[in-house]
Amino acid sequence: MSVTIGIAGITGKFARELTSILLKNPHVAIKGYCRDPSKVPQSFTSKVSLVKGDAYDEPAIRSFVAGCDVVVCCYLGDPKLMEDGQKLLIDACAAEGVPRYVASDWSIDYTKLKLGQLFPKDPMIRVKAYLDAQDKVKGVHILVGMFIDGFFGAHFNVYDAATTTFKYWGTGDEIWEGTTYRNAAEYTAAICLDKDAVGILKLVGGQSTFNEIVALFERVYGVKPKVDRQGSLDDLFKLMNEKREKDPKNIFSYLFLFFQYYMIEGTTDIGPELDNDRYPQVKPVSWEDYLRMVPKDQLPTAITKVGQNV
Ligand SMILES: NC(=O)c1ccc[n+]([C@@H]2O[C@H](COP(=O)([O-])OP(=O)(O)OC[C@H]3O[C@@H](n4cnc5c(N)ncnc54)[C@H](OP(=O)(O)O)[C@@H]3O)[C@@H](O)[C@H]2O)c1
Repeated sequence: MSVTIGIAGITGKFARELTSILLKNPHVAIKGYCRDPSKVPQSFTSKVSLVKGDAYDEPAIRSFVAGCDVVVCCYLGDPKLMEDGQKLLIDACAAEGVPRYVASDWSIDYTKLKLGQLFPKDPMIRVKAYLDAQDKVKGVHILVGMFIDGFFGAHFNVYDAATTTFKYWGTGDEIWEGTTYRNAAEYTAAICLDKDAVGILKLVGGQSTFNEIVALFERVYGVKPKVDRQGSLDDLFKLMNEKREKDPKNIFSYLFLFFQYYMIEGTTDIGPELDNDRYPQVKPVSWEDYLRMVPKDQLPTAITKVGQNV
């Protein structure tokens, strides 16, 4: 049995991890779609059938999805790309008879959000509705929580490596659901090969509270971090909305505050029931496993290494 898997946005971090895992399977053929083939890792180029095109090039997209058993979208970009770019891929899948489409999600459970609540997820809500209305193409939505690799990065503003300080909102007892990029790619590879996997799939590496993550940090690295409470969840909600109202164009002044809020506020929790057991061949990587894998001094930059060693 041979399976052809199409990966749109094959140059991205997640796509590189996914491709490298799938290439180990001799029964898998991979088609990749990207706008700049020179960014595709050398190790892939002889093994992947590449189609060059931008996200709105309909003939190129049709030729990319043709013959695929499943198409995985790994785009990450502006709202137009995430909505219109994905709809074009879905339309092409319908036209070419591709039975499954894995949406570019890998997220907290955005399906419980209303439009406008966590604005970067609005395109995903619309794309899910678009897929739900299809009769030929079945949508696959993979929920993993946050990518653990990003938690310790400076942009996320939870961990300050220079002073070994963790900053948090709320009580510290809210649960952070997280999965590493690599682990999410392992689950996604298993889903690509499981033709019965459709709809929402919940695959989470670890569920730990902020206080537990801090305790794990101390246990694993033997260093007691400082902990700095920023305020309540209501304070965070107020601050993120104030920043957005004051300077809406300066998205990065409030984007990660929105993500922090919805990560722990409860609405978008994925668990407690997960689908991990459906794929026993994949070992979930917990917060503790991650900390044991990554040296302390590499935590802040670990996300920049994702997809580089493939
Ligand atoms: N849960 C989390 O914490 C979390 C965090 C990050 C990402 N994610 C999700 O993971 C998925 C992949 O993210 P990633 O981190 O791998 O993203 P990434 O490394 O930034 O890769 C994004 C991909 O999208 C392509 N792309 C961007 N703009 C494009 C455009 N206008 N036209 C065509 N292609 C375009 C890029 O192509 P070029 O190389 O040509 O730019 C690249 O292949 C997304 O679904 C994202 O929502 C989840």
